[in-house]
Amino acid sequence: MAPRLPKALKLDDPDVTLRRDEREAFVASIEPVTMNSTVDPRAELISSPQRLAVDVRDVSLTFETADGKVDALSNVSLQIADGEFVSFIGPSGCGKTTMLRVIADLQQPTSGTLLVNGMSPEQARLQRRYGYVFQAPALFPWRTIEKNIKLPLEIMGFSDSEQRARAAQYLALVNLNGFERKFPWQLSGGMQQRVSIARALSFDPALLLMDEPFGALDEIVRDHLNEQLLQLWDKTGKTVLFVTHSIPEAVFLSTKIVVMSPRPGRIIDVIDCNFPRNRTLEARETPEFLKIAQRVRIGLRAGHSYDE
Ligand SMILES: Nc1ncnc2c1ncn2[C@@H]1O[C@H](COP(=O)(O)OP(=O)(O)OP(=O)(O)O)[C@@H](O)[C@H]1O
Ligand SMILES: [Mg+2]
Repeated sequence: MAPRLPKALKLDDPDVTLRRDEREAFVASIEPVTMNSTVDPRAELISSPQRLAVDVRDVSLTFETADGKVDALSNVSLQIADGEFVSFIGPSGCGKTTMLRVIADLQQPTSGTLLVNGMSPEQARLQRRYGYVFQAPALFPWRTIEKNIKLPLEIMGFSDSEQRARAAQYLALVNLNGFERKFPWQLSGGMQQRVSIARALSFDPALLLMDEPFGALDEIVRDHLNEQLLQLWDKTGKTVLFVTHSIPEAVFLSTKIVVMSPRPGRIIDVIDCNFPRNRTLEARETPEFLKIAQRVRIGLRAGHSYDE
């Protein structure tokens, strides 16, 4: 059945405090599937015995700006298996956000190939195979918490009862039962960020793209959310791509850490982390943890330019 289009979405409300690029990305990531799309949303998955969640091959992206060309990504290749938790770390401007946006089909590469869950990024977007969590919670202030979570579900044409059930299910998953009728401004930053995670999970995407979701939070709240996110990943088996500037956060959360470097934006190291899935914050004191953190630090130092 064709999805029911929303009657009125007030995405241009002047009260919205989202950055323009965040608003555009959010709208694009949940835009209704239109029937004149060149892509058949029912397209079959490309069958492959060991399907990768993300398969990036030789991808480059050059922005043409008034000041000349910017090589945001240069010959990036990366294979991410289903169920991995992959962190991207690197100095400002090394292409972390660009990488997520290319995977989410919010930006097109200049060259190279890309598969997301075995299909093109456009197919993956139209089939809503990913949820996107931004650095700012990107909630709509005139909607209650429950209605914020329901927004993508409304756009996708879920029935009212299914919307209600899913909102309750995912609010419980991020420990926010009882906050349905509150407005975003009545919640703390950490709680708002949990709402935006619940919203990204509400339509059960296999892939979760998270761009510095905890960057603006204090360390205690961040620690707590790190533990919650790890449990959630363990429970749901989703693939998570997570951007961060924090070495301990990357090492604690990840099965794989991708270290990037700017000008041109590229991958300079990929580090496997094999900590038990049910690890606790105490794992950060172990020699294994410190060894990986040290390797990330060395990679960052090698790729960092101090001449600005
Ligand atoms: N739309 C755009 N037009 C022109 N240049 C852009 C655009 N988007 C990103 N860039 C440039 O591409 C490079 C990579 O940007 P990107 O936002 O991916 O970096 P980042 O690693 O996410 O940085 P940060 O840690 O500060 O968020 C930067 O030099 C940036 O200025
Ligand atoms: Mg960024």
